[in-house]
Amino acid sequence: MNNFIFENTTKVYFGKGCVKEYLSSLSNEYGNTVMLAYGGGSIKKNGIYHEVTEILKKAGKTIVEFPGIMINPTYDKVLEGAKLARKNHVDLLLGIGGGSVMDCCKAISIASRYDGDVWADFWARPGIFEFDPLPLGVIVTAAGTGSECNGGAVITNEELKIKTGRDYPKCNPKFALLDPVYTYSVPKNQMVSGSFDILSHIMETYFSEPDENNVSDDIAEALMRNVIRNLRAAIQNPEDYTARSNLMWDATMAENRIIKLGKRTDFACHQMEHQIGAYIDCNHGAGLAVLHPVYYRHICQAGKTKFARFATEVWGIPAEGKSQSELAEAGVDALAAFIKEIGLPTTLRELGVTEQTDLKKIADSCIIVPGSYKKITHEEILEIFKECF
Ligand code: NZQ
Ligand code: ZN
Repeated sequence: MNNFIFENTTKVYFGKGCVKEYLSSLSNEYGNTVMLAYGGGSIKKNGIYHEVTEILKKAGKTIVEFPGIMINPTYDKVLEGAKLARKNHVDLLLGIGGGSVMDCCKAISIASRYDGDVWADFWARPGIFEFDPLPLGVIVTAAGTGSECNGGAVITNEELKIKTGRDYPKCNPKFALLDPVYTYSVPKNQMVSGSFDILSHIMETYFSEPDENNVSDDIAEALMRNVIRNLRAAIQNPEDYTARSNLMWDATMAENRIIKLGKRTDFACHQMEHQIGAYIDCNHGAGLAVLHPVYYRHICQAGKTKFARFATEVWGIPAEGKSQSELAEAGVDALAAFIKEIGLPTTLRELGVTEQTDLKKIADSCIIVPGSYKKITHEEILEIFKECF
């Protein structure tokens, strides 16, 4: 394995009733003013908003509301939140939602404590911290990104047409409250796209060197099997507590840095999806579902040993009678069949890309990462996009 340093500073409270049990005492570790940040209003329909505000009011907190964080949060929204936090001398930022809310809050936690150009100094290039970001706590309502346990924040700069992320350990939430019951109301399309995002995070790590005997790959296989099994169960019964619990913890495990230790990681599909998202504002997990099988057909022969292992260990495909190349292809076929089975889109067209969309411009704007088993070029990204169309 490669060398690594591991630290994760987020304290996780997991399970049914955890918000009722812990939020009051957790919020008392900070000052009096709490900024409540959330999305488009799902928390008002499912009762989470009521539960949280009652707890905070009883704890004597002053609540500053910051609603309306959109999917694919924008840099403008970050600046709006930072202005509000400064104006009200907020002591604790409390994000309630999925990845979009959590990411926006992390960026606000920087922007509310930094006087310079936040985009230029923290997103366009890696930032330098000579200050502590505003403390952040999160209450997760949708499983997927794993943002609750890392410092990653993916932000869209609409003006520059760039959607990009940075992972700053200083932005790890101070605490994360994970109640699987809170995810019961997530609509099916979001539940499957969030779950596919989990699978994608694991695959983008698994299909990268080093490949020799290492614990990360073994954990990754167990996690992938767990996501597949529990997503099938949650589709059958959205209120299956065991299934929802597993999916929620799978999401955290995929992105809390543990499986990345010692691995190079790929994240080529994420780079491509982020740029498609920057142009057409699509759902993140759905975009990944369209791209993954096509990208993997481009690279699976270059990494056929690992793709063959994926076929047998994750999908249970028997190796007998198949060459390694055939087995590798069978693994990608199984992934593509699963995407259809769970009802995710399989073409860019379904995401909103049209004949008028300038796919070349999007392909050229993608960041080329070190790559999995084959380094792709901007020309090959365009080919992938055309095949996905
Ligand atoms: O906005 P509301 O009304 O709350 O509705 C949301 C939103 O429409 C809804 N939702 C969430 N919890 C719900 C619920 N609806 C009913 N009941 C609930 N309990 O779900 C919709 C999608 O929410 P969103 O937060 O956008 O989804 P997700 O968690 O998939 O986050 C996606 C964002 O995270 C970024 C993505 O690029 C995208 O911008 N990512 C962040 C990462 C990180 N920080 O580590 C890594 C990822 O790879 C990803 O890039
Ligand atoms: Zn993702």
